Amino acid sequence: MKKILVVDNHPLILQFMTNLLVKEGHQVLTAQDGLSALDILKTETPDIMFVDLIMPNISGEKLCQVIRRIPRLKDLYIIILSAVAAEHEVNLAEMGANACIAKGPFNKMARHVHAVLDQLDPGTSCDFKEEIVGLEDITARHVAKELLSIRRHFEVTLASMSEGILEITPEARIVYANPSAISLIGTSEENLLGSNFIELFGEMDRQRIQYLLGAAIRSTPEKTADDASVTLNGKDVLLNISPVADEAHASMIIILNDVTQRKRLEAQFQQASKMETIGTLAGGIAHDFNNLLMGIQGNVSLMLMNMDATHSYYERLRSIEKQVQSGAKLTSHLLGYARKGRYEVKPIDLNQLVEEASDTFGRAKKEITIHRELAEDLLTIEADHGQIEQVLLNLFVNAADAMPGGGDLILKTKNTTHEDMRGKLYDPKPGNYVVLTVTDTGMGMDQQTRMRIFDPFFTTKEMGRGTGLGLASAYGIIKGHGGYIDVDSKKGHGTTFSIYLPASGKKAQKAAVQTPDHIIRGTETVLLVDDEEPVRQVGRELLEAMGYRVLIARDGKEAIEIYKQNQDEIDIILLDMVMPKMGGGEVYDRIKEINPDIKVLLLSGYSIEGEADEILDRGCNGFIQKPFDIKELSYKLRDLLSKDPGPEDPALA
Ligand SMILES: Nc1ncnc2c1ncn2[C@@H]1O[C@H](COP(=O)(O)OP(=O)(O)OP(=O)(O)O)[C@@H](O)[C@H]1O
Ligand SMILES: [Mg+2]
Repeated sequence: MKKILVVDNHPLILQFMTNLLVKEGHQVLTAQDGLSALDILKTETPDIMFVDLIMPNISGEKLCQVIRRIPRLKDLYIIILSAVAAEHEVNLAEMGANACIAKGPFNKMARHVHAVLDQLDPGTSCDFKEEIVGLEDITARHVAKELLSIRRHFEVTLASMSEGILEITPEARIVYANPSAISLIGTSEENLLGSNFIELFGEMDRQRIQYLLGAAIRSTPEKTADDASVTLNGKDVLLNISPVADEAHASMIIILNDVTQRKRLEAQFQQASKMETIGTLAGGIAHDFNNLLMGIQGNVSLMLMNMDATHSYYERLRSIEKQVQSGAKLTSHLLGYARKGRYEVKPIDLNQLVEEASDTFGRAKKEITIHRELAEDLLTIEADHGQIEQVLLNLFVNAADAMPGGGDLILKTKNTTHEDMRGKLYDPKPGNYVVLTVTDTGMGMDQQTRMRIFDPFFTTKEMGRGTGLGLASAYGIIKGHGGYIDVDSKKGHGTTFSIYLPASGKKAQKAAVQTPDHIIRGTETVLLVDDEEPVRQVGRELLEAMGYRVLIARDGKEAIEIYKQNQDEIDIILLDMVMPKMGGGEVYDRIKEINPDIKVLLLSGYSIEGEADEILDRGCNGFIQKPFDIKELSYKLRDLLSKDPGPEDPALA
């Protein structure tokens, strides 16, 4: 006596086979489809299985493949029962079947079943083209052929779709998966068939999916809303569920749409447009604010110039100057965030900058131990020294704030390429990069904080301690340099910031020279061009106090007029960059046409992206950021004027 499982969706065939086999003294189990067969096979280990090839809920072919992966069933002798096997191009041996009987009239089929059972020899497979018995039923063959061609057409269509397609039973068991679905879910077809669809998802999503399936089965096709994707195998996936019901069986078709990439692009776009909007606002504020500070700074400088240090107002004025410097720091953060402060880009050595900045920082924060692992062969970067320094200091200060009782600050640099930056939110431009990581052993951040740290004005620090601009400006500055900034942090486990900057093939230049601590006088003629009255006013007085002769223009057009008339006298032009009607860039070009040798010092509260860069590239001699103090201005002027000394080179005061 053998234990025999018969799997066929035709009740008549099941009945016929059962009668036939029971009469022979065998024990018979039956299943109406592949899925039920799998369920039976969970607990039963039959000796022989007759299986129909074309059935709903996992075809005979797939069923065989699944079974052949179950070690317990390795001796199961599989006999295909089919009307179409002869037309099937697939080699039946590949399916793991042992024999095949063509369906036909019952009396003939009974003979074939007896014949096959008689010569049953478990564990051997055979060449099925030869072995198929009962091919005499021609009509059935024709019908079957047609059926198969239609089926194949759909199979090819489904297989070539980029969307994942699943068919599931009302109990959510998977009975079909196309190749896209299989690769999206990231497992094998054999593992997928028969498994529970809902269990593919994490706890968070399961309840929702259960609900969607419930709704779908009650008829209307359900979709997940666009903003509510589910997570499947680490990807963002939208589900589209449609019920399929015919008399024979009910199932659901699920279309899986992988929107991971789209979501990523959307997030990037949103971030970019947020930056853009707030950046414009921040840039505008910074510009007006810098002009205002310029007025205050200029007046304070003028008053201090003629004042003895013992004067009762002396300290007060110094304190105003300090406040102006704090204000200027704030605006420079805003400018950094707005990406409008990238003025003097030079090839620099990031290691040197890291060393200098961390030395300065370490002297102020003795409770923090600084460790440095700087790559010796580090490529240079093209950057604004002052801005990158600002980024470093922001990161160091944050690290110190996160380690109130002291701790370790670990700074590492190395060369890398875009290849190593895969899988991040951004798509790095191909090329070489240098990466700096700043790690602290501080309190770390939870996910909610981490998501917002680059937002301007986001701070978790008490009023007066943090403005929430440090990282926003770091972000803007790094972006402005074509780089990327990343954070990795866990609450209670410290924080690592990674900064990627494009590498340059150029040789590093030494950092800018320090401003001297005294005023350098001059006697040349300066044309000051600025649209803001307070700046012109205080600018004139400052320049005159230094000994210069001053001409004033209120806008670009006037500047050109005045220059034309006083060409021979004017030694240098102090030119504001942002002015209504004709901006500094255009004025610069026009005046250069008149006199290619004229010296121009650019002056600005901020620069429209890249504009200062461009003008400097066109040969402009220098740049000074408002609000500047009198010493800084005197130094820059003297530096430019004496670079190519004219015939009446004045003596330095
Ligand atoms: N190394 C760090 N460890 C833990 N939390 C940090 C770290 N760096 C930043 N943060 C968090 O990010 C927030 C924003 O930082 P950001 O530098 O932008 O502003 P801030 O430090 O609060 O103020 P500001 O830098 O303008 O003085 C901080 O308030 C803090 O919550
Ligand atoms: Mg900060």
